Amino acid sequence: MAAHVKGRSWILWLLVTAAVCLSCAGARSGRTVARQRLEVQRHLKRLNKQAVKSIKSPDGDIIDCVHISHQPAFDHPFLKNHTIQSRPAFHPEGLQFDESKVASKKKSPSMAQLWHQNGRCPENTIPVRRTKSDDLLRASSVKRYGKKRHRSVPNPMSIDPDLLNESGHQHAIAYVEGDTYYGAKATINVWEPKIQQPNEFSLSQLWILGGSFGEDLNSIEAGWQVSPDLYGDNNTRLFTYWTSDSYQATGCYNLLCSGFIQVNSEIAMGATIFPISRYGGSQYDISILVWKDPKEGHWWMQFGNDYVLGYWPAFLFSYLADSASMIEWGGEVVNSEPDGEHTSTAMGSGHFPEEGFSKSSYFRNIQIVDQSNNLKAPKGVGTFTEQSSCYDVQTGSSAHWGHFFYYGGPGKNSNCP
Ligand SMILES: *[C@@H]1O[C@H](CO)[C@@H](O)[C@H](O)[C@H]1NC(C)=O
Ligand SMILES: *[C@@H]1O[C@H](CO)[C@@H](O)[C@H](O)[C@H]1NC(C)=O
Ligand SMILES: *[C@@H]1O[C@H](CO)[C@@H](O)[C@H](O)[C@H]1NC(C)=O
Repeated sequence: MAAHVKGRSWILWLLVTAAVCLSCAGARSGRTVARQRLEVQRHLKRLNKQAVKSIKSPDGDIIDCVHISHQPAFDHPFLKNHTIQSRPAFHPEGLQFDESKVASKKKSPSMAQLWHQNGRCPENTIPVRRTKSDDLLRASSVKRYGKKRHRSVPNPMSIDPDLLNESGHQHAIAYVEGDTYYGAKATINVWEPKIQQPNEFSLSQLWILGGSFGEDLNSIEAGWQVSPDLYGDNNTRLFTYWTSDSYQATGCYNLLCSGFIQVNSEIAMGATIFPISRYGGSQYDISILVWKDPKEGHWWMQFGNDYVLGYWPAFLFSYLADSASMIEWGGEVVNSEPDGEHTSTAMGSGHFPEEGFSKSSYFRNIQIVDQSNNLKAPKGVGTFTEQSSCYDVQTGSSAHWGHFFYYGGPGKNSNCP
């Protein structure tokens, strides 16, 4: 009997609650929208610093020229009294290759980014791609905006077979490990791979890694990417990334959190790279060098021959405060299909390594920086890909190109479900 009464009052309670909730749902969703709008406005105010001058790029971006001492890095409590290093104390030695920024001789060397067509930033400012409210609204949450998901770094040393066929990240990379590394360099062919779903991306980059592949992995990354979610279009963009805890709380793309200190007034992180290679036509590439300054301990980045972009202060990292234990170069895509199926999101040029120059994408002159601050050819280069019938990698070496590899593929095809 007691149980019966309890049962009835339970049902009554349910009915009352349901009625209350029906009337409150509309108001609640209204409040949620208002709260989200407020959160977006607050975050935009944090990200977009006051500009000395703004330049509208043909691709729709706005590039804000922000005074160098007002850049996002200085929101970091540890950087409150930081004196900006305008140059690295040391530059790695042994640049032995012709480092022209492009394979084609016709291109003017100053046209590395599309926004340059409409202006330049004055001295003592840095160009920052303005974040728009649409950028934030595309993100799963304002907090996750500008951050990679967990587990997005390939670990060739321990492949978990259960992960291989899950939806997720797919790679085709070359790597070295087993030594201490103080930097890495590569000249990367630039393409605009097709992205099937807006929540996927395709990138080509180098990774400078410290620590194990646990929760405290340190990573510095740079290269080019196509990411409709992050940028709202399919353009190929220059990017950097860093994390000191395996993509959890720390780090971000570009200047979307405080950390990287930019000193260069000409190159904007996240801006569109121009021009792009064509299948069977003109080929373009960018050179990226990241190295640890032996004096101050900061990790510097250089783009092409001419542009020292800035640095990641050593204190951001644990393992990388000392040295890197692994270097990776190559491509990564996000595949959103479950159960071992693939989308047709392309990596590199979207063509397999077998096709070779001007058809498949390449990394050439891959090098590492050793303990004595010398650039050297890497020893014992390994390769890794989850499923070579979808995306593949093939290494080689030659007098002109040093150590190189072709990589990439079309994703879904008759051999890759
Ligand atoms: C910055 O300098 C001020 C004044 O010298 C000092 O009080 C403060 O503790 C310093 N802050 C940091 C984070 O070093
Ligand atoms: C992944 O799926 C493919 C195609 O369904 C299959 O051939 C392959 O054996 C699977 N690999 C693993 C590691 O389960
Ligand atoms: C990006 O490319 C995809 C696939 O080609 C296309 O469906 C989409 O409309 C493009 N997005 C934009 C913003 O241009």
